[in-house]
Amino acid sequence: MTASPKASSNKERVVIFDTTLRDGEQCPGATMTHEEKLEVAELLDSMGVDIIEAGFPIASEGDFAAVHEIAKRSKNAVICGLSRAAPKDIDRCAEAIKPAKRHRIHTFLSTSPVHMKYKLQKEPHEVYEMVIAQVTRARSHTDDVEWSSEDGTRTEIDFLCRCVEAAINAGATTINIPDTVGYTTPEEYFNLFKMVRERVPNSDKAVFSTHCHNDLGMAVANSMAGVMGGARQIECTINGIGERAGNAALEEVVMAMQVRGDKFPFVTGIDATMLTRASKLVAAATSFPVQYNKAIVGRNAFAHESGIHQDGMLKNAQTYEIMTPESVGVKQTSLVMGKHSGRHAFQHKLQELGYELSDNQLQDAFVRFKALADRKKQIYDEDIEALVDEEIATAHDRIKVLSLTVIAGTMGPQSATLSLDIDGQHVTTQSTGNGPVDAIFNAIHALVPHDAKLELYQVHAVTEGTDAQAEVSVRLSENGRAVTAKGADPDTLVASAKAYLGALNKLTSRRVREQIPAGGRRIHSTDAG
Ligand code: KIV
Ligand code: ZN
Repeated sequence: MTASPKASSNKERVVIFDTTLRDGEQCPGATMTHEEKLEVAELLDSMGVDIIEAGFPIASEGDFAAVHEIAKRSKNAVICGLSRAAPKDIDRCAEAIKPAKRHRIHTFLSTSPVHMKYKLQKEPHEVYEMVIAQVTRARSHTDDVEWSSEDGTRTEIDFLCRCVEAAINAGATTINIPDTVGYTTPEEYFNLFKMVRERVPNSDKAVFSTHCHNDLGMAVANSMAGVMGGARQIECTINGIGERAGNAALEEVVMAMQVRGDKFPFVTGIDATMLTRASKLVAAATSFPVQYNKAIVGRNAFAHESGIHQDGMLKNAQTYEIMTPESVGVKQTSLVMGKHSGRHAFQHKLQELGYELSDNQLQDAFVRFKALADRKKQIYDEDIEALVDEEIATAHDRIKVLSLTVIAGTMGPQSATLSLDIDGQHVTTQSTGNGPVDAIFNAIHALVPHDAKLELYQVHAVTEGTDAQAEVSVRLSENGRAVTAKGADPDTLVASAKAYLGALNKLTSRRVREQIPAGGRRIHSTDAG
């Protein structure tokens, strides 16, 4: 079942295909737990995403389980799974998406000379036959099939046209021409869609799609150029997360069409006022920070610091704002929070900041807010954001910090006494180390033995002042897959322990889902770009 590209207004409809949970989650360090994926999918569905690419079911038991569960829970969106050309990939994908009311198989194959020669080690005529076979197989499971020519922008045009024609003849209803390596330019991508649509005789039988990576910083511009060239689906991710430099950012393509309807006369089904919430949820779930000056959802996107700008803004906001903060879900925050603020005010503040928590999450976050307010005089919005992001990220954690005492200073060795709650059991140990952070991480290692490698340890202050909360990011890697987690606390060392445990929790939950022992291997490896 294909999402209709027709709009009710006189503007043409562009279908939004979100791949945050597949191409986004695939990038190093952006791993989400099963529960986090479900939460993100629910929000994408409710904000009007047409197609959710929920994962790559053959990649692992965990990916399969997430796609399957998202398919069961989906309300409006088409649920899509990715598969390579092999029949077992396609069949596994079909099984995963089956429970969805509307589902799609997205199957891809490389078509560029360099990919065919070195990656596939196949001749073009063999690849051509594989395209027909993969689409035919996918069509035997569902009538909504998308075919992608991986590395499409570096594919020889005659061969691309032949493959696209064959894929449509075999039953593909969407044709995606990805800029897999982020190499194309707007003019070139525009011409590519125009040319393929003109030259392929059955091109009117499929919706064409863009899929742009951001290696040269042109993913959004290229996506829009593709639409001007005739594409009516954009593949994108929240916050632009994705392989290497990322994918086209959903919030940017949506707002480009909304704000510059004169240049891009298209509409989407996205409720733009939910963009900020989606950005925050994905940032919290992945522990992937949003660049401060990121378009639409960055912290500074609506901040005006210079005197001239502030003066203009006070006279008329249109002097320096091309869209209102409210139009993307940023509320003017008014309430000042402190230790006398009650639950109702806290809830109101969360709404202003664009969060929506379950009753349990709200209760836990409120308890933590009160504890923070006891220790810190002024509670800024950033403090609450750090606290709530942590609440979202740790809601399903199996290992939690109970207490931590550290002895540090010039007279080493530094030592840490750490108590953890592991699945309800309390355990304690004392370790020494080369500095307090090393001592804490050694204590964690003693209580939770693992082979993960520490790849990144970063500290930054959430706000100004010496009583500011510290936000620590930790990235751990295991068997070639990295996870990142954040921990926030007025005490930098406690924040460090929380961040390290957050990353370990993510690795543990991935191992359980994928049925691999600590230090073991993933069941399958994949190569989607
Ligand atoms: O970038 C790419 O080519 C991809 C395909 C799997 C569509 O992600
Ligand atoms: Zn991609």
